[in-house]
Amino acid sequence: MQGSKPIVDKKNRPLRDLRISVTDRCNFRCHYCMPAEIFGPDYPFLKRDEVLSFEETTRLVNLFHETSTIQKLRITGGEPLMRKDVDELIGMLAQATGIEDIAMTTNGTLLPKYAERLKKAGLKRVTVSIDSLDDERFGRINGRGIGTKPVLDGMEAAKAVGLGVKVNMVVQKGVNDEDIVPMAMFFREKGITLRFIEYMDVGNSNGWRMDDVISKREIFEKIDREMPLEPLAPRYPGEVATRFRYKGSTDEIGIISSVTDAFCGSCNRARLSVEGKLYTCLFASKGHDFRQLLRSDVSDEKIKQAIREVWEQRKDQYSLDRTNGVKVERQKIEMSHIGG
Ligand code: GTP
Ligand code: 5AD
Ligand code: SF4
Ligand code: SF4
Repeated sequence: MQGSKPIVDKKNRPLRDLRISVTDRCNFRCHYCMPAEIFGPDYPFLKRDEVLSFEETTRLVNLFHETSTIQKLRITGGEPLMRKDVDELIGMLAQATGIEDIAMTTNGTLLPKYAERLKKAGLKRVTVSIDSLDDERFGRINGRGIGTKPVLDGMEAAKAVGLGVKVNMVVQKGVNDEDIVPMAMFFREKGITLRFIEYMDVGNSNGWRMDDVISKREIFEKIDREMPLEPLAPRYPGEVATRFRYKGSTDEIGIISSVTDAFCGSCNRARLSVEGKLYTCLFASKGHDFRQLLRSDVSDEKIKQAIREVWEQRKDQYSLDRTNGVKVERQKIEMSHIGG
């Protein structure tokens, strides 16, 4: 923030967290995100010139930083490590903005190769996704038959170079609910915070049904029965995960309850897609095109004005509306375009 007043949206929510998708490609085909039947060889992935360059992304992110109160950058995808030399972008963003908290959401498989470069560039932490510890089940979920080892090795590689590591697990009824307790035990033992995510109706291709969701309460009860839990306060305003710790210890878990206990009221996140569109909600159907502005001869001031206008008009609260039974029939953006 430089000089002017921090921007807030129509519901008085500031902009604190900018999530930047750097590629729409992934080496996995998780059926809840990029089902192989749809994301096959003929899928129209973006071409090189449709994607923002590192210079364009850095200029834009810097303008966001000058317009708002951004405290965290999260690099996402698709799988962000599929973007060539993404560590260079991280270095450019760290240098241009001075933002300290730069994180990445990744499937972890390429971390053994890149962890050191990422750390050197200024990345602070990674969130690695893994939905089961059973190789066969995990292979089915990721749609590529890839076992757990490459992902667990990725976590170790990140830890070894001093990156912070958290784990995300998407929980689906009848798919991996029996993994909840084993996952909790395994990552507690490793001293890694595990977050359970309620399966969400993002995108249009995963055939989501409410019946497939295991609720925050059910997840809590399953774990609490084996290893008693107690609640913890949020670490910062608008944190998506509800935190708990195992009684008598400092080991913690989080549960992300976007379906049964929406957290839109404090949502301070904006998402920048690979092709330079700004989305003000994970469930948005329309983005605001900043690539066109970046590629025309427009001043920084004009772009900052456009950022302010979009945020100040924002009213999104999709998950809350769904909870309240508000029907919104629309074509949603795919998760692989805007990251989690
Ligand atoms: P920390 O900085 O570690 O607290 O990270 P974070 O909570 O931002 O973590 P992460 O990006 O890993 O988010 C975890 C998951 O929560 C995402 O992958 C999404 O599935 C879900 N999530 C994150 N932000 C939102 C949001 O704004 N709305 C909804 N509905 N879900 C979200
Ligand atoms: N519901 C919940 N979480 C999802 N993710 C991807 N698709 C969904 C979904 N439909 C998670 C991934 C990863 C992050 C990017 O978002 O597992 O942790
Ligand atoms: Fe790839 Fe992550 Fe989507 Fe799975 S959830 S297909 S790992 S981007
Ligand atoms: Fe934010 Fe939209 Fe998620 Fe609600 S549903 S928390 S407004 S991104």
